Amino acid sequence: MVILAIETSCDETSVAILKTQGKSAKLLSHLVASQIKLHARTGGVVPEVAARAHIEKIIPLVSRALKGAKIEIGNLDAIAVTAGPGLQSSLMIGVDTAKALGLALNIPLVAVNHIEAHIFSPFIKPRIFSLPPARSIFPAVSLVVSGGHTELFLVRDWLKYKKLGATLDDAAGECFDKTAKLLGLPYPGGPELSKLAVRGRPVIDFPRPLMNSKDFNFSFSGLKTAVLYYLRDHDIPSPLAGEGKGEGVVVRKKKISKADVAASVQQAITDVLVGKTVRAAKQYRAKTILLGGGVAANQALRAKLKACLGGRRAESQKLKIKFLTARPEFCTDNAGMIAFIGGLRARKKHFTPLDKVRANANWEL
Ligand code: KG4
Ligand code: ZN
Repeated sequence: MVILAIETSCDETSVAILKTQGKSAKLLSHLVASQIKLHARTGGVVPEVAARAHIEKIIPLVSRALKGAKIEIGNLDAIAVTAGPGLQSSLMIGVDTAKALGLALNIPLVAVNHIEAHIFSPFIKPRIFSLPPARSIFPAVSLVVSGGHTELFLVRDWLKYKKLGATLDDAAGECFDKTAKLLGLPYPGGPELSKLAVRGRPVIDFPRPLMNSKDFNFSFSGLKTAVLYYLRDHDIPSPLAGEGKGEGVVVRKKKISKADVAASVQQAITDVLVGKTVRAAKQYRAKTILLGGGVAANQALRAKLKACLGGRRAESQKLKIKFLTARPEFCTDNAGMIAFIGGLRARKKHFTPLDKVRANANWEL
């Protein structure tokens, strides 16, 4: 089957073409038109601005993807499209484009849940790849960490999972973005904060909300508020330690810098994420931990999980859990992961009737 996939749930317009044959697949093209520059001006995504940009980009991107894949439009077998969750006005552009193409070409549609796509994103590779045997991977525990979601799942098989917990307030990505803003960093804050954190020391003991609660829920709004108060109450001179004016706070003979704040925030967020994920994996005797979503691009988070599971530490030998994380290009929003779910569902003939395909901003798994 040749599947065209469309992703427009937030601020990236993305199109992919995937060819599947039995258990193997080949990503023939994968394009992402980022709106970062557009939203940098306002320091965040303005839904109407995002939707307009999707409208401008989507058809040229579909044409380029077909050309790049050397596929005639008439040779497409199905279309996979993100139907939710996300920004309603952004989702509608992708969904309506997919419906129009599906109708014109008389081919079936797969309405894809964006979070489900993040769950299985660690399995996608840039070119040819095949599905590993289910018994070598599952049961798995999946951590999806993005700008809008922080959710833990127990995954029993391909497309079979149940939610173990989720954030009660802000998502982890939102916490990265909002504290980055407090530190005066440009949009998008997550990657900027993690870049700054490399130069800092995690010396501030910010709260680790719900770290030791028995459930698998998360909460990040208190951490964001703690950073707000810390910055209000302390004189933090400049991004680099020791620079700038003012008395500042001194720890181990060095003034606390914004880089130290960034490193401390990152440490608090990743401690909670890793702590809960590893506990879930132990409790459910998972063979694998899967990590996906925009925040999965964070090197500190990847390294911390790896150190617990795959490194040479005694702990890892006890746990014997595989760690699979999405490649950077499949962490942030992309149509590659939508195509992958499209392929899995098309194989099972899980198509969505054209009149039932609707953008649903609040589509809960
Ligand atoms: O999955 P995604 O592209 O969009 C949503 O579905 O929300 O995730 C975007 C989020 C943003 O909050 C962004 O700041 C965060 O992922 N992010 C990062 C990094 N790269 C992206 N957060 C921390 N460190 C990074 N390196
Ligand atoms: Zn996402």
